[in-house]
Amino acid sequence: MHITSVATKAYPDQQFGTSGLRKRTQVFMQHYYIHNVIQSIFDSLKGFEGKTLIIGGDGRYLNSEAIQIAIKIAVANGFGTIIVGRNGWMSTPALSHLINKYEAFGGIIFTASHNPGGKDGDFGIKYDDSNGAPAPLSLTSKISERTKGIDRFWWADIPDLDLSVINEYTFDQAVVKVINPVTDYAEYMAEIFDFEAIQKLFASGFTMTFDALNGITGPYAKYIFEEQLGAAQGTVVHGKPLPDFGGCHPDPNLVYAKDLVDSMFKPETKDFAAASDGDGDRHMILAPNLFINPADSLAILTEYLELIPFYKGKMYGVARSMPTAPVVDDVAVSKKIPLYVTPTGWKFFANLLASKKVAVCGEESFGAGSFHVMEKDGIWAILAWLNIIAKTHKKPQELTYELWTQYGRTYRLRHDYEGVDSGAAQEMFKALASKLPNLTGTKMGQLQIKEAKVFTYTDPITHEKASNQGIIVTFSGNASVVFRISGTGTVGATVRMYFAKKEKELDAVPAEVLAPLILTANTLLQTKKYLGLDAPTSIT
Ligand code: G1P
Ligand code: ZN
Repeated sequence: MHITSVATKAYPDQQFGTSGLRKRTQVFMQHYYIHNVIQSIFDSLKGFEGKTLIIGGDGRYLNSEAIQIAIKIAVANGFGTIIVGRNGWMSTPALSHLINKYEAFGGIIFTASHNPGGKDGDFGIKYDDSNGAPAPLSLTSKISERTKGIDRFWWADIPDLDLSVINEYTFDQAVVKVINPVTDYAEYMAEIFDFEAIQKLFASGFTMTFDALNGITGPYAKYIFEEQLGAAQGTVVHGKPLPDFGGCHPDPNLVYAKDLVDSMFKPETKDFAAASDGDGDRHMILAPNLFINPADSLAILTEYLELIPFYKGKMYGVARSMPTAPVVDDVAVSKKIPLYVTPTGWKFFANLLASKKVAVCGEESFGAGSFHVMEKDGIWAILAWLNIIAKTHKKPQELTYELWTQYGRTYRLRHDYEGVDSGAAQEMFKALASKLPNLTGTKMGQLQIKEAKVFTYTDPITHEKASNQGIIVTFSGNASVVFRISGTGTVGATVRMYFAKKEKELDAVPAEVLAPLILTANTLLQTKKYLGLDAPTSIT
């Protein structure tokens, strides 16, 4: 095997965001674009010689090519063992689990998560650290910096490997292992959850649909739900990972999982439905005629997780991201456990999970997880729901209404203005930020502002400071609005506004409850003036 140094030219746009580097697929198809990113990752790490690296991807267009490139550069840089999922497939949470299980130095996953795939879709690269968590800010900044100065990468002159069969390939000091990406993860889930209780639930006639949206979770779900837990054949739909996700947008929400949602809003439905995203870290939960939003779902998981033996005596605390409606806050108070509020992005949860400050965390964007892996985990969340249903003998809709009756119902909505001009968005936020000091205590229409501030977070473990993590305005009457610019957008800027308001009334329409708040938020941010838009491009 020859190892050579290949000259390359730096790209100016390889800045890591909320979740690694995410861009249009065609951007990644530029000459040595992927090579530069991978070598920049390795150049930012120390001490990996002879160690293990896990590599996988969510099966989207360019996945196979990217994996072959990553293998060659990893071998050339001196990794000892490289573990790759069969077909190059691996879900994000499974990658995190394998890093821990095989005590790997780290892992690379090719995914743009819930963004569409294909040649005209999106692609991405993310690095997970040796604890299986997304690289912390200090490391992603280092990698971003390195991409600007890179002028060579190391290359091992080895053939492309057949990734469709489980096999091992040895090249001098390095071994590349192609493994079944599903079995280790499935075994771990069986350790965490009471599979027997869930088997009984399905045996008693409980019905469910799981929509993999043609993303990576299909093979995991078929094996776990249908083969191991005895859910009916056909429970899993859109179960084959496709390079373009079959033209779908693999994002489990009311807009993009519409078929599944419609199937649950009918007189006759399944007892339960769920979906996951392209790389398997997000999930959506539905009951008959009811969408259980992520903030409520996190609260219910927190309320009942200790019924699952793995978590008994381990409810250390709970965390939610700042834009997530504060439903779990009430559960934390009632359970007398600490609550942490973090900036957007799973990496902020990772330290809390690893240091056992929290047992469970979740974000409004359909992500939840626990200390079992350092990434959010869609299949885990669905299994947790099934386990709780099996243990409490309560239907998902009953669990939700009980939560609302106990604490009140928090209505929430998110408005996104996607692909807007970056400069205009920055200016708009600057303008609002400059007004904040004078807003506290003022009245806008019917609403009284309690506090208006830019959210800054100091990590309680590393003391790393994350500034400028969005703007939060709280109003009297249990209402709040959060404004922020997305860190995962691939074109221009995406502005997000999150609305939440708690009410005693349980069956109101969210858009009606939140209408005054939405009006006030738009007056504050002046979306029309800066973006020239009358309405958001997406409401979820
Ligand atoms: C979005 C979500 C965020 C999530 C991230 C990665 O980031 O809002 O909660 O962690 O995707 O899945 P954003 O585009 O808002 O920066
Ligand atoms: Zn994802």
